[in-house]
Amino acid sequence: MRFSGKTVIVTGAASGIGRAVAERFAREGAQVVLGDVNAAGLAEVKAGLGAAASAHTLDVASPADCAAIVQAACATTGRLDILCNVAGVLAMAPVAEITPETWNRIIQINLGGVFFMCQAALPKLVETKGSIINLASAAGLVGVPFNAPYVASKHGVVGLTRALALEFGRAGVRVNAICPTGVNTPMIAKPPPASVDYELVARARPWLNDGELCDPPDIADAVAFLASDEAKRITGIALPVDGGQTAF
Ligand SMILES: NC(=O)c1ccc[n+]([C@@H]2O[C@H](COP(=O)([O-])OP(=O)(O)OC[C@H]3O[C@@H](n4cnc5c(N)ncnc54)[C@H](O)[C@@H]3O)[C@@H](O)[C@H]2O)c1
Repeated sequence: MRFSGKTVIVTGAASGIGRAVAERFAREGAQVVLGDVNAAGLAEVKAGLGAAASAHTLDVASPADCAAIVQAACATTGRLDILCNVAGVLAMAPVAEITPETWNRIIQINLGGVFFMCQAALPKLVETKGSIINLASAAGLVGVPFNAPYVASKHGVVGLTRALALEFGRAGVRVNAICPTGVNTPMIAKPPPASVDYELVARARPWLNDGELCDPPDIADAVAFLASDEAKRITGIALPVDGGQTAF
């Protein structure tokens, strides 16, 4: 029960990693505010968590939506202790096929969404000396072919994490990122387009246990650690949970 009495916002909570993170915080005593653009998925996760959770539909690319979920979290419990920015999108394609719309969408959600959630939450996190955990990716530390906008957005998340850790360190707010390798979620279940050289993409893979992917609870373990007092001296890091992918 490391998070008893704490209020946590988790974006991307309707699916995959966000769902596992929300379930972990609820199991450890937190009041969890679930955010996602997928209202039906959110309702299902909320139903599973009962009184430990509330659900708010939001598009993290909208600064107004980001401000609204922070306001709703504070209206419910009067405080905010932890922000987990998990919402994200992926589009695998050769550079020539990436439209301005795709580029803008990925940057606005994966990078803009993290910034605007942090901007909205930081005044409340300063009050509680809270912490932020951003879901970046191993693709925020090294390149992955055929994923240019995604890789750019995740490198941006790592840089943003470091900048915010420094700007808010004196106020006692910790800001960290997690950089997973492939995780078994709907995000990577879709087959890549035929124009992608998948053999090249698949070189970016974990080394441990001959390429075994992570499962969402593996990532929730790392999020819970970084959010806990056990990590009270840790800020500004980008923690790979990648089975050695970035050790090469
Ligand atoms: N699955 C992987 O292999 C992997 C690896 C490294 C990093 N990540 C990162 O982990 C995070 C979670 O991914 P996942 O694998 O659980 O994917 P997922 O597709 O299962 O879940 C992503 C969630 O984000 C939500 N979302 C998308 N756009 C949104 C928006 N504009 N506003 C609010 N919510 C929105 C989706 O509705 C969905 O519920 C992402 O940031 C992803 O980039 C995933």
